[in-house]
Amino acid sequence: MRIGILGAGNMAGALGAKWVRAGHDVVIGARSAERAEVLAKRIGARAGTFAEAAGHGDAVLSAVGHGAAAEVVGPAAERLAGKALLDCSNPIVPGPGGLMLTTGGGPSAARALADAAPGAHVVKAFHLCAAEVWAGALADGLAVPLCGDDADALDVAGELVADVGSVPLPVGGLERAGYLEATAAIVIGMWFAGQDPRTMLPLAENAHG
Ligand SMILES: NC(=O)c1ccc[n+]([C@@H]2O[C@H](COP(=O)([O-])OP(=O)(O)OC[C@H]3O[C@@H](n4cnc5c(N)ncnc54)[C@H](OP(=O)(O)O)[C@@H]3O)[C@@H](O)[C@H]2O)c1
Repeated sequence: MRIGILGAGNMAGALGAKWVRAGHDVVIGARSAERAEVLAKRIGARAGTFAEAAGHGDAVLSAVGHGAAAEVVGPAAERLAGKALLDCSNPIVPGPGGLMLTTGGGPSAARALADAAPGAHVVKAFHLCAAEVWAGALADGLAVPLCGDDADALDVAGELVADVGSVPLPVGGLERAGYLEATAAIVIGMWFAGQDPRTMLPLAENAHG
């Protein structure tokens, strides 16, 4: 598959490296040509601009900070039309009571991305775990919740989840992405506090008492 990655940071490097290893043709797009080149060289991809990465991909990962995603994706909207656009952003910041959503009661970051690129098929994915997890064997067998409205885009996202060693877990349409983003605020907050989020939940066979 041809994959475009918008951003040349931690998530771009972690996921991009796994996708290159899985045989995909990856173009890294960034505002700094030098940073795109350095990352592309490190993982065996090619470097380009945001527009080139967006145009290249059959699937495109938005891996810029959540505050920048709409401004990066907007100008590339035409090139993204009809494609799976994966959103891994965490719109969360430290707050007085713990990590909090920057989206407040408004649209999710995934919805904002979809609004910035109206023809693209946005899928929320990969936001729950750290780049270091996606980069290595810790990703093996992890369930990766996905939210999206387009069945083909969900299939593409599922393939890319499998290619990092994980298991796709569709959990609803894009209108549910805000719940996944809020889940990240709680779960990541627990990890930061040294707690284990898995202790919140019983095994599936015991879940109904
Ligand atoms: N890191 C994690 O463990 C992790 C885990 C889950 C989800 N996420 C999410 O993944 C996304 C990327 O995180 P990351 O850790 O990979 O970030 P990062 O290492 O800081 O990289 C961010 C990338 O976005 C670019 N960027 C930032 N602001 C920009 C702007 N206004 N215009 C154009 N480009 C801009 C940066 O370019 P410059 O280098 O030029 O600044 C860089 O290429 C975020 O939304 C984050 O919430 C991260």
